[in-house]
Amino acid sequence: LFMALAGCGKSAEPTSSAGDAKKKVIVGTDASFAPFEYMDKGKIVGFDVDLLDAVMKEAGLDYDLKNIGWDPLFAAVQQGKEVNLAISGITINDDRKQTYDFSVPYFESTHMILVKEDSPIKNALDLKGKVVGVQNGTTGQAAVEKLLGKENKNIKKFENTVVAIMDLLNGGVEAVVTDNAVANEYVKNNPDKKLKTIEDPTNFESEFYGLMFPKGSELKPKIDEAIKKVIDSGKYAEIYKKWFGH
Ligand code: ARG
Repeated sequence: LFMALAGCGKSAEPTSSAGDAKKKVIVGTDASFAPFEYMDKGKIVGFDVDLLDAVMKEAGLDYDLKNIGWDPLFAAVQQGKEVNLAISGITINDDRKQTYDFSVPYFESTHMILVKEDSPIKNALDLKGKVVGVQNGTTGQAAVEKLLGKENKNIKKFENTVVAIMDLLNGGVEAVVTDNAVANEYVKNNPDKKLKTIEDPTNFESEFYGLMFPKGSELKPKIDEAIKKVIDSGKYAEIYKKWFGH
C-alpha cells in the first residue's frame, strides 16, 4: 500500500525525487551586505549564512550557497531553475509577494541614513535637494523615492550597497540610505572613514526579512518549520549574539 501511494502521488520533495536522490538545493545571495552576507577570504559569511546553515541542517536539506548579485537574484528565483531560494536580507513586502513566496520573518529592520561626520543632514527630510545613493531595487530605494519623488534625478542607484558607500566616501552622493544594521556595521568597522548614521523612525518604517522562494515552492513549508525550530531551540539567539554581540 505504501509503495502504491508513493508511486501515484506527486513527489513531495524536489530533493528526493526518484532517480536523483539528494539533489542539492541551490540558494542565491548578493554577498555585499555585511553583516548579513559578504565575502571574507573568498568565502560567503554573515548572519544570514549562519542562519541558513542552521535552518538547512534542521530541515535535513543539502545545499549550495551562490553569490549571484542582487538584481539577477530576483529573476533567478522567479524562474526557480538555477536558484531554488534566496537569502539576502530580503524585505518581505506586498509588492514582492505578488511574484514570490516568503518564509516566516526572521529579522526586523528599518532604514538609516549614512553620511559624513560633518554632514548638515540631520533627518530624512533634509535629504530633499541632496544627492542620495541607494542600492538599485531595494526597499531603501523605495523609501527615498517616497520622500523625494519617484522620478527625482538626485536619487543615484547603485548595483550594490558597497559601491554606494564608496561613492559617498569619494564625494559623489551626499548620503546613502540602507538597512540599519548594514549602516551601523560599516561605521563600526571603518572608524577611519568618519561616517555616521542617522535614524528617523518618523519617516522610515520597520520591515522584516524573509527567505524568498519561487511561487508555490515545496521547500517553503519545510523551511518555515525549520526556522521556527532554530528560533525555539536557542540556536537563533546564538547566531544573533555572534553577529550583533548582544
Ligand atoms: N532589505 C532591503 C531589501 O530587501 C535590502 C536588501 C539588500 N540585500 C543585499 N544582500 N544586497 O530591499
